[in-house]
Amino acid sequence: MKTNKVTIHTLRAMKESGERIAMLTAYDATFARLLDESGADILLVGDSLGMVIQGHDTTLPVTLDEMIYHCRAVARGARRAQIVGDMPFMTYQASMDQGIANAGRLMKDGGCHAVKLEGGAQHAELVRRLATAGIPVMGHIGLTPQSVHQMGGFKVQGREEGGRERLLEDARVLADAGAYALVLEGIPSPIAAEITAAIAIPTIGIGAGAGCDGQVLVCYDLLGMDDSFKPKFVRRYEQLSMRIRTAVQSYVDDVRTGAFPSAAESFTMDAKPAAQPDAPVYSTVANK
Ligand code: KIV
Repeated sequence: MKTNKVTIHTLRAMKESGERIAMLTAYDATFARLLDESGADILLVGDSLGMVIQGHDTTLPVTLDEMIYHCRAVARGARRAQIVGDMPFMTYQASMDQGIANAGRLMKDGGCHAVKLEGGAQHAELVRRLATAGIPVMGHIGLTPQSVHQMGGFKVQGREEGGRERLLEDARVLADAGAYALVLEGIPSPIAAEITAAIAIPTIGIGAGAGCDGQVLVCYDLLGMDDSFKPKFVRRYEQLSMRIRTAVQSYVDDVRTGAFPSAAESFTMDAKPAAQPDAPVYSTVANK
């Protein structure tokens, strides 16, 4: 298993050697530890948490303080992976100074190694200033969920007249401005492959085909946590929603019938030596 920490240089070297980059979203320390131990190179604390954790219909309501809270949790769980924090809607669009200050908070208070922001050439100057300030920036073009109302829905981008040229231009400008990687979301595979060949920084695709330098999925989608929703670009590697329901139904049945807890799962009056290995780590009850 690889143990060296993933940095922007690791990722550039992976592109150069043709080794694909595996990125996943993570929102808490437990998932961060599991995904990190399983070899994910980048953990993105995505503002998708507004939808999969908070239950909103879009990512727009997510605040910077909420992002920092989740970034800190992920940073505690991960060892090897690079941690990227998403800049939420309206934390970088209003002014350059605000964008720099807010990105700084994600790094200083959230413990991220890099930030991600959505949009193309219009953010080139911000990317340049962040990179100069020592803040690595991952760009994000194509379907940019923070612009859902501007786009008229979560729609594949780049098919319209001039769309391919605009995406290529955005990618080139962001790379030139100092972005170290680029998420390509919801764009036709041939355009994503062309962008990947045209720029020196790694591209990470989601709904952008196999021609990118890496791939990203929302970890809840990959694990099948929501069986009511499956976009075309998602591959479910598990059906956890079913398995969780089955496990919880068994627990509920056992509680109702009195089968849980057993004697072995209960404490006696006899004191045992302290610090039993089977002590629940979250428990405030002494394990004796
Ligand atoms: O917020 C998010 O999770 C993302 C990825 C899906 C790229 O931006």
